[in-house]
Amino acid sequence: MPESRCLQGIWSSPWIFIFAASGSAVGLGNIWRFPYVLGQNGGGAFLLVYCLCLLLVGLPVLVAEVALGRTVRSNPIDTVNDLSERRIVHKAWVIVPWLAGISGFLILTFYSVIAGWSIAYLERALSGQFKDISQLGAEAMFEGLLANPTEMLLWHSVFMVLVVLTVGQSVTRGLSALVRILLPALILILVGLAAYSISIGNMTKTLEFMFAWSWQDITFDVVLAAVGMALFSLSVGMGAMFSYGAYMSKRMSITRACGIVVGVDLLVALLAGLLIFPLVFSFQIDVEAGPSLTFVSLPIIFGGVPAGQVVAGVFFALLVIAALTSAISMLELFVAWLHEKFYIARLKAALLLGIVVWFIGIAVLLSFNHWDNKIVFDLNFFELLDEITSMILLPVVAILLSVLVAWFIPRTMLQNEMITKQSNHFEWWYRTLKYISIPAMVVITLAGWIGA
Ligand code: PHE
Repeated sequence: MPESRCLQGIWSSPWIFIFAASGSAVGLGNIWRFPYVLGQNGGGAFLLVYCLCLLLVGLPVLVAEVALGRTVRSNPIDTVNDLSERRIVHKAWVIVPWLAGISGFLILTFYSVIAGWSIAYLERALSGQFKDISQLGAEAMFEGLLANPTEMLLWHSVFMVLVVLTVGQSVTRGLSALVRILLPALILILVGLAAYSISIGNMTKTLEFMFAWSWQDITFDVVLAAVGMALFSLSVGMGAMFSYGAYMSKRMSITRACGIVVGVDLLVALLAGLLIFPLVFSFQIDVEAGPSLTFVSLPIIFGGVPAGQVVAGVFFALLVIAALTSAISMLELFVAWLHEKFYIARLKAALLLGIVVWFIGIAVLLSFNHWDNKIVFDLNFFELLDEITSMILLPVVAILLSVLVAWFIPRTMLQNEMITKQSNHFEWWYRTLKYISIPAMVVITLAGWIGA
């Protein structure tokens, strides 16, 4: 690995890793996806299983990804090639970083379209269109957007330009300025809005829905959805965190840093739930509405908030930035690889990839209107991409990567990297990954496929 990359590419302060990794983790997954998946899976039981998944699967796999990245300080593809040249692992393992890159790439094709919805809502917020909006008005607004591919294309394109420009810079530089302000601001505004939503909405029902559970609610589908959501929300299984680990300073404890990232990610998701559900219950919006849930509820909240136009503007601006800091991590693996292996300038690499993503994204946005026909298994193109990435690619990559780290990479190599004076969580992490996370992921994924 070139020494210069190390020197150039390390985060300026150990804390920046936490901000950048949280920036990747916190995004549309927390604010758009988490509430509707929670809604579709019955609430409290899902939340309980989700927390367990974060702790017993998400966190150990996240640590594995980051630790491997920091141990080798290179991009994932070169790393595996390098390890195989040194006869540490077989060269067939290179399939793992390739699948990881492909899954990040495919996720971006629809992530960008949904981020485009957020920009569309930013525009509506700033032009005061949420003022005193009714439930019917909010539903019509969202349906109107979905029925308008030209507008969706515009915002999808704007978002992809932002992604290419940001990822085209050195990630360590492009990101640090953004995330330092973003996360505290996002958490602050979510707390304020959740408090408002609780004060006007149905709090009793929300608390009961989100936090009460019974054994029979924990079905197999709930567990499967929770694992998928945990991996997606923590951005693991895509090589994104691996790349960020490669830039991480040695001074930081990996387990502690990753623990903080998981905590922040869960906090934002819970706040999003506390923001959306009081409204959903008081307006009797269908909790199982799916992808539209967040985009229908939010305008109603902003329509009534004092200074709603400004608050909504700030909120959607932050949401777009949160989506951006997640989206760039999806392209980082291939951009870093093209840059380091073939000396292609980062901006050029980002542009090449960005154009392909943009193109596929057009098919995604059309699947909400003109191409709403079902291609296979009763799924349209957007749903198909979502299923392929969250049901197949993410778990498969997470399993393979964990097996690689837990069973094939020499233990001493990881120990040297992870055991420091301040941190001795190594054993705990290593055993959990080996004996809990991997078997759990294998059983759940296989059973999910058989059941599907
Ligand atoms: N974790 C991000 C979110 O919650 C999504 C993401 C997936 C980011 C994969 C990077 C890689 O929105």
